[in-house]
Amino acid sequence: MTTIKACIFDLDGVIVDTAKYHFIAWKALAEELGFVFTVEDNERLKGVSRMASLEILLEIGGLQFSEPEKLAMAEKKNTLYVTYIEEMTPEEILPGVPHFLQELKNNEIKIALGSASKNSPMILERIHLTEMFDAVVDGNSITEAKPNPEVFLKGAEWLGVLPENCVVFEDAIAGIEAARNAGMRCVGIGEPETLGLADFVIPGFDGFTISKFKSAFGDTTIENHIDT
Ligand code: BG6
Ligand code: MG
Repeated sequence: MTTIKACIFDLDGVIVDTAKYHFIAWKALAEELGFVFTVEDNERLKGVSRMASLEILLEIGGLQFSEPEKLAMAEKKNTLYVTYIEEMTPEEILPGVPHFLQELKNNEIKIALGSASKNSPMILERIHLTEMFDAVVDGNSITEAKPNPEVFLKGAEWLGVLPENCVVFEDAIAGIEAARNAGMRCVGIGEPETLGLADFVIPGFDGFTISKFKSAFGDTTIENHIDT
């Protein structure tokens, strides 16, 4: 048994559902370039960095561009994406998330964000969750994309906690691989069929308590202090 001292959360698909806004913005770019981008195509972009997402989009469209052109396209997509996330409110936080975060705080378990998104700070502000995080590692502070473990290792470092004492919450396969590569345990958010590499998978945080969480990992160190 290893004590859980910190939890590191992915943002998109774990705390909020921003995939729908990414989809609208990428679809608009595809339409401008003359091809159709589907919801199924959008699944391939989950957890993938902005520039890597653009590469996948252009591969779907069978198009090639120079680096400066690609940078301009990514910028344009992001400008449209930002118009949507600017309008986000705390009501868009996925069910059960605030309660679970509060339970972690009550039990003195540290909380970090580990997201590929450069827009993470703005989203956290809009949904009024910035104050809940002891550290925020986002796309602006990393050079390597998931499944590279950099984002989670930096989260542990900034919190002053060893990787073995961290648990990651992730909805993307690349993110779960990144947690594994960091030597951390991992809870998948979504379908067990897709996220088999996680220690266990939950559909979301609704009804998920710290008591269930800790006993799933065999950590009962502060169980006595928990209301169930
Ligand atoms: C990830 C999303 O969290 O962030 C990806 O799952 C997205 O879909 C990536 O491409 C980068 O986001 P942003 O906001 O920096 O373009
Ligand atoms: Mg995600």
